[in-house]
Amino acid sequence: MNDEHRMMNDEGKNEFEPKILVFCCNWCSYAGADLAGISRFQIQPNFRVIRTMCSARVDPEWIMEAFRLGADGVMVAGCHPGDCHYIGGNYRTRRRVAMLRSLLRQFGLDPQRLQLAWVSAGEAEKFATTVNEFIDRVTAMGPSPYRTAAAPDADLAKEPAHA
Ligand code: FES
Repeated sequence: MNDEHRMMNDEGKNEFEPKILVFCCNWCSYAGADLAGISRFQIQPNFRVIRTMCSARVDPEWIMEAFRLGADGVMVAGCHPGDCHYIGGNYRTRRRVAMLRSLLRQFGLDPQRLQLAWVSAGEAEKFATTVNEFIDRVTAMGPSPYRTAAAPDADLAKEPAHA
């Protein structure tokens, strides 16, 4: 985190609250997220979930749009390799996310702001841990350089217009 992104209160505590978007596939990761809630695992409140039928349904444009609107981090969560309910959707997702991460730096974004995670329907604790660790990492990085005064309260959970 550089100095211009540091947001400290009088006690020297970091006040930066990141905005995190988590895309979850319907069949595994969303069920894992749901179970994490039902199981009352503690997760920091800095994220919003968007459910898609498969992680492969997440268009790379949506990820870039989320960053453009001011997301500080984006996570794509899907079924474990071999468990995708659409056979090989998550293999495509893995290739797309790798490609996007290599592009992010060219757009002035740290590739660590985009994370891929495999979470099954029964892995509630893994969902909670993965999201908490991602939020901590993004918090340490500071605000996205795309977060501007023009869109500080953009509704990141709003469905993309072209979906
Ligand atoms: S259905 Fe979960 S990744 Fe495809």
